[in-house]
Amino acid sequence: MSTRRILATAALPYANGPIHLGHLVEYLQTDIWVRFQRLRGNRCLYICADDTHGTAIMIRARAEGRREEEVIAESQAAHQRDFAGFGIEFDNYGSTNSSETQAHCNEIWKTIRDAGLVKEKDVEQLFDVEQGTFLADRFVSGTCPSCKTADQPGDNCSHCGATYSPAELIDPKSTLSGSTPEVRSARHLFIELEQLHRFLAEWTQSGNALQPEVANYLKGHFLGDANSAEGKKDLRDWDISRPAPYFGFEIPDAPGNYWYVWFDAPIGYIGSTQQWCDANNENLDDWWKSDQTEIHHFIGKDITYFHTLFWPGILKTAGFSLPTRVQVHGFLKVDGEKMSKSKGTFIKAETYLKYLDPNALRYFYASKLGNGLDDIDLNLEEFTAKINSDLVGKVVNLASRSAKFLAATGLSEAYPDDGGLFQQGADAGEAIAEAYETCDYNKAMRLIMELADRANPFVENAAPWTLKKDPEKAQQLQDICSIAINLFRQIVVYLTPVLPELAEKMGQLLGEPIREWSQSQSPLTGTPVAKFKHMMKRIEDKGIQKMVDETKAEAEAVVAAASQAALASQFSDSDQPLKDEPMSDECTIDDFVKVDLRVARIVSAEHVEEARKLLKLTLSLGGSETRQVFAGIKAAYDPDQLVGRLVVMVANLKPRKMKFGLSEGMVCASGPGGEEVFLLSPDDGAKPGQRVH
Ligand code: 2FM
Ligand code: ZN
Repeated sequence: MSTRRILATAALPYANGPIHLGHLVEYLQTDIWVRFQRLRGNRCLYICADDTHGTAIMIRARAEGRREEEVIAESQAAHQRDFAGFGIEFDNYGSTNSSETQAHCNEIWKTIRDAGLVKEKDVEQLFDVEQGTFLADRFVSGTCPSCKTADQPGDNCSHCGATYSPAELIDPKSTLSGSTPEVRSARHLFIELEQLHRFLAEWTQSGNALQPEVANYLKGHFLGDANSAEGKKDLRDWDISRPAPYFGFEIPDAPGNYWYVWFDAPIGYIGSTQQWCDANNENLDDWWKSDQTEIHHFIGKDITYFHTLFWPGILKTAGFSLPTRVQVHGFLKVDGEKMSKSKGTFIKAETYLKYLDPNALRYFYASKLGNGLDDIDLNLEEFTAKINSDLVGKVVNLASRSAKFLAATGLSEAYPDDGGLFQQGADAGEAIAEAYETCDYNKAMRLIMELADRANPFVENAAPWTLKKDPEKAQQLQDICSIAINLFRQIVVYLTPVLPELAEKMGQLLGEPIREWSQSQSPLTGTPVAKFKHMMKRIEDKGIQKMVDETKAEAEAVVAAASQAALASQFSDSDQPLKDEPMSDECTIDDFVKVDLRVARIVSAEHVEEARKLLKLTLSLGGSETRQVFAGIKAAYDPDQLVGRLVVMVANLKPRKMKFGLSEGMVCASGPGGEEVFLLSPDDGAKPGQRVH
């Protein structure tokens, strides 16, 4: 079979959130497929990037007082760390906010303009005057115009299911500022997708690019029957511009307007490939404009429309290759339900990695993923049972029960008679490969486990641990263990796309790394066997419990912080002072008690000749104990108003000799300085000399 050249992509994760177990379904599905292709000898690139643009990032950066570039760089590092933790290896992990993506956006945009697909229309949208921004639907809430339920989001009612535009909400509020937004009109650019109807109907309804249920969904919901005038539906114009302010690329021929995030996101696939080409001296056209290259996109079912209508429409117009395949998967459920923060099942990749083995999730997802759009369920009990019984109990056990008896002798010189077991496994290879190829990993895992189910009774019956006791049975022992290890090796070759780490450990055990699928077809003979090292641990319930508990605790902390923020917001206190003077590093209670804060009474206050900012204060700590302090409060206080009032002072500050005399402490005050200085006063009842704790 000749070598195929393939480019595979997984959808670009948004830069405004962490990677969670739901995301990983897709990145693992793709990683397994890419590894399978390479094992079969095909050339396969795995390309991805962060999806960085849009309102959400802009708002978050604003809230955190940072530049968007800083926020997205931090996310990208975190995403790459999480993916690497699960053994997901990209050839290039880029960013949509790159010069490469921007250059391709410009070029592609021009072809769309030239093809006469762009038109302009006025769009009415809610505008937050306080924040100075148009509001995407999810940043508006109000009362449902249909059932009158309060606090409903800007697109559809969670109570009665009605859909509406945010401007139709009763008493709409911006969730960014709490203010009432106003309706403003702005000119937007649209791509007239309907012009591509005929092409899209043909591309989606014939050929092998889409799963049948995806093709049917597109026909039923959007395209209709292109061959009959009554049956045909019109595709909606696609609004692809947003007025400033917006974090994204400015549209070169429409200054002040930016491409909507979903325009440049898939072009990020090309931008990221471009980076890889530049680094590897390759030509982009060989990957994106060649009929010798297959392009496979892996996506979740929620973004089907973008990848099967908009994206092929753009590619076709701009002269790029069309996807060979858009492979759509379902969502992840945990214990049969939607992932939930409060139940502790909205599990971040990072949290999982703290407590559990990434290989376990790789295998579990593989065992659940079929080639359809069904959701997959991570039932945590089933997860534990499956890993412990399949991987530890059936697969690794084959090696752990036999490898140690071969350490001294190595494998038998000739492969012994195993009753046809190895050959049966070799014969299953093509069916397993076909299952991987079609993303039916669930079937592939079943076929592989059938091999393990046949190999284990063989070892059980032959009982090498008993043969070991009889020196006369040394040859028999070597033969039985050579068979067991070869059956193990065959299974591990088949599992290599899913469990590359296990494959590597096995390669070390037998001194021969796994590089090709064909290694499953012939047994190893006469080679040394290294000392057996542990290959995979059982999943413990306590690891799962800790992961769930930590996820729950984090969610509770977020809810608590949000309710504290809501309480604080009723006073409309600005966040400016904290921004002007950010918090210091953490200190300990021991650090704090070193500073002796005391209540003191100002018994005299006078101007200091020649000092522009200072007042000279005499502070009483009760009895005859006094301190002289020079305080920079002259612009804010009249000395006469100060005499008699209580303040808080740092009483054990090392005295400092100043031009005007000795200063023996400090009075506590807030504010930026000048006229804006505010002395701290204790409540009534406090007495000079009392310590402030
Ligand atoms: O749905 C999402 O998470 C998007 N960020 C996916 C983008 S995929 C591609 F088109 F960029
Ligand atoms: Zn409603």
